[in-house]
Amino acid sequence: MASLRTEFLGIEFDNPFFIGSASPTLTGEHMRKIIDKGWGSCVVKTLSFDKNVRPDVRPRLMGARRHNSLYGLQNCELITTHGLEWWDKEIKVLQDTKAPFIVSIMATPDLDDWAALGRWCEEHGASIIELNVSCPHGCPEEHMGMFIGQDPQLVHGVTKAVKDEVSIPVMTKLTPNVTDIVQMGKAAKKGGADALAAINTVAGIIDVDIYQKVVAPNVLGRGLVSGNSGPQVRPIALRIVAELAKEVKLPISGVGGIDSWKNAVEHIMLGAATTQNVTAAMWYGFGIVEKWKRKTLEFMDGQGYDTVADMVGVALDAVTSYEDLEVEDHLYPEVDVGKCLHCNRCTVACGDTGGGAIKVPKINDIDDEECLGCALCAVVCPVGAIDMVVRGESQRWTREQGQPVK
Ligand SMILES: Cc1cc2nc3c(=O)[nH]c(=O)nc-3n(C[C@H](O)[C@H](O)[C@H](O)COP(=O)(O)O)c2cc1C
Repeated sequence: MASLRTEFLGIEFDNPFFIGSASPTLTGEHMRKIIDKGWGSCVVKTLSFDKNVRPDVRPRLMGARRHNSLYGLQNCELITTHGLEWWDKEIKVLQDTKAPFIVSIMATPDLDDWAALGRWCEEHGASIIELNVSCPHGCPEEHMGMFIGQDPQLVHGVTKAVKDEVSIPVMTKLTPNVTDIVQMGKAAKKGGADALAAINTVAGIIDVDIYQKVVAPNVLGRGLVSGNSGPQVRPIALRIVAELAKEVKLPISGVGGIDSWKNAVEHIMLGAATTQNVTAAMWYGFGIVEKWKRKTLEFMDGQGYDTVADMVGVALDAVTSYEDLEVEDHLYPEVDVGKCLHCNRCTVACGDTGGGAIKVPKINDIDDEECLGCALCAVVCPVGAIDMVVRGESQRWTREQGQPVK
């Protein structure tokens, strides 16, 4: 029987599903609920000195939906609105749960401030300290958050300042809003980081109200480029986790776009040892983890994985460069006529964009000669009735070999 118990940076967690630093971890009571509901841990909402705390604007969240289904969130929430004195008491609620917990901190590039905040975390029972050098809104203007995370020297300096001060593990949380994430991961590693957390939110604009001429989140008629999260950012998060796992080789806590147990396993298979979730928990409540744990265990039992560690990075080797890809020249779509709804989306897509290989009304009568092998038909099929299969004699070639003459 598989087990979800996870060792991360020498600390034992009940499972690898954590709640990341954000609104769900704003108070001790919220975090007690997170642990009671069965999450492996949580990252306390980013803390700082009173001088860095600002009031939040209202509203500060905006969702994006399609066909009535949410796929993205944008927020311009800042760090905690409470000072350290308030947190002195609040953190006790979390300590009482006995679960290991992580505290997120943020300061300006003043290294003494970072060191002092690190000390505060250690004195208040944190198992791990997460360095928030990655918030994309509000904070960069104050030389905090992404202002630091976009500069490898600052990432190195801040990580080292905290690392030199404390004896507990330090994890640097990176921003995706950089050109070269590996450079930032290596800077954190050089500063002594024990792990990396990736990603914080993606800077963007999720919506423009074309009637009011206002961008999201609409704060009394004005908006701003701010943090995007949820399923819309998952491809970016997975890419970054894979790049860090391949190139930096530090333990990773994978964050970004996890909306199901499967998405968490995707992060793990690309190199994350633990995962963090925020947006899905905000949308659907902390109870989602129960199903995630059950389904992950079922998957592990079915696939023969005994521990979470057995799954870490197992898909990494499959992430390769274009040069390394093989081409199967005889790969064609096959329609499962039993599943097919005869909606003709594949026919239209193939006719307008592909080779015009799928003709109506004979839905599975594919003209292999016309087929480009792109799989657009499978992409647009609403019921997954189309698979790509090898028909005829398999013919594989690499870029090195060049395309065979037909
Ligand atoms: C409302 C909100 C507030 C957030 N506040 C913080 C924060 O204080 N510190 C931090 O490191 N990340 C913060 N984040 C970023 C999340 O921790 C996480 O990195 C990001 O949302 C991606 O994960 P997700 O797709 O599961 O939401 C916040 C995200 C949201 C949606």
